[in-house]
Amino acid sequence: MTTPAFTPRVFSGIQPSGGLTLGNYLGALRRFVQMQDEDYQTVYCMVDMHAITVWQDPADLRRNTRELAAGFLASGIDPEKSILINQSQVPEHAQLAWIFNCVARMGWMGRMTQWKDKAGKNAEAASLGLFAYPALMAADILIYHATHVPVGEDQKQHLELTRDIAMKFNHDYKVDFFPVTEPVIEGAATRVMSLRDGSKKMSKSDPSDASRINMTDDADTIAKKIRKAKTDPDALPSEAAGLDGRPEARNLVNIYAALNDQSVEEALRDVGGRQFGEFKPMLADLAVAKLSPISTEMARLMQEPEEIDRILARGAAQAREITVPILEQAYEIVGMVR
Ligand code: AMP
Ligand code: TRP
Repeated sequence: MTTPAFTPRVFSGIQPSGGLTLGNYLGALRRFVQMQDEDYQTVYCMVDMHAITVWQDPADLRRNTRELAAGFLASGIDPEKSILINQSQVPEHAQLAWIFNCVARMGWMGRMTQWKDKAGKNAEAASLGLFAYPALMAADILIYHATHVPVGEDQKQHLELTRDIAMKFNHDYKVDFFPVTEPVIEGAATRVMSLRDGSKKMSKSDPSDASRINMTDDADTIAKKIRKAKTDPDALPSEAAGLDGRPEARNLVNIYAALNDQSVEEALRDVGGRQFGEFKPMLADLAVAKLSPISTEMARLMQEPEEIDRILARGAAQAREITVPILEQAYEIVGMVR
């Protein structure tokens, strides 16, 4: 099979299932902003339909979706450069997901680590949507024929599944219709860890608020969380290899490097040899300097929900110019009478 040339197009999404964290910002959002100015068409999405695979209070979901949109905009997503949407406003995502539910196999889904982690020991009580989650994610991407997907490290397995779904569809129907998407997992902070436990991912769903920096935290809260972050007693090394076996130290250095747009090696040239008592205030100052303009702008935008809704409605209309024809072609390939 020859691969047709697809328009270079980026798609990525974030769940409005809680507030944005520093992990989302460094692992995903910051890269989304850069890619707007590279040679891609960019589509970014609040995935509200993914959020409801676990229980969401309706009022919270509504608020979190608008707050996430404010976070995208405040971080630098420009609606003149990118298409910014809320998933449920572009129904073709769910429509293609149904076809993918019929392409993907139960066994593929059962092997997903996110499914195993989130369903836990009581899989019988998990929603069917949580199990099918990766087929909807594949549809989000492939309904745009997206070629590149910037994400944090934790989404790698889901993107492999997206590739498997595209290949199986193309193979079963003997077409070259869906691109085999490339993950974009880059930078010093593709996996930001909890501030309380260097072996756990920083997550919006961690019960401990001290484990994460929220994009809405004020300067004092950020400084306090960094001051209390778990560390070890040694000084920072001057080479990256010296961070081996020191997960908490590595995490704080990764965060410092990423916020400063440096590699870990460059960061250690500045901070190597320092004790945490000296390094933590430097990190706190840097984090406050980089994050507080974003949280201030988010708070301002949250005062203008109609403006956010208008941007999302316009994004949905632009998105559907792409998604409606692709869905029609997919239905045609599958043999549905239209
Ligand atoms: P989620 O909040 O699970 O919808 O994640 C949205 C995006 O942020 C995905 O690309 C994730 O990979 C990324 N992300 C979430 N948490 C982290 C983290 N702790 N470190 C790096 N990237 C993350
Ligand atoms: N599963 C992703 C997460 O939890 C969110 C997501 C949904 C996504 N659809 C997507 C990410 C499509 C990239 C592309 O982080």
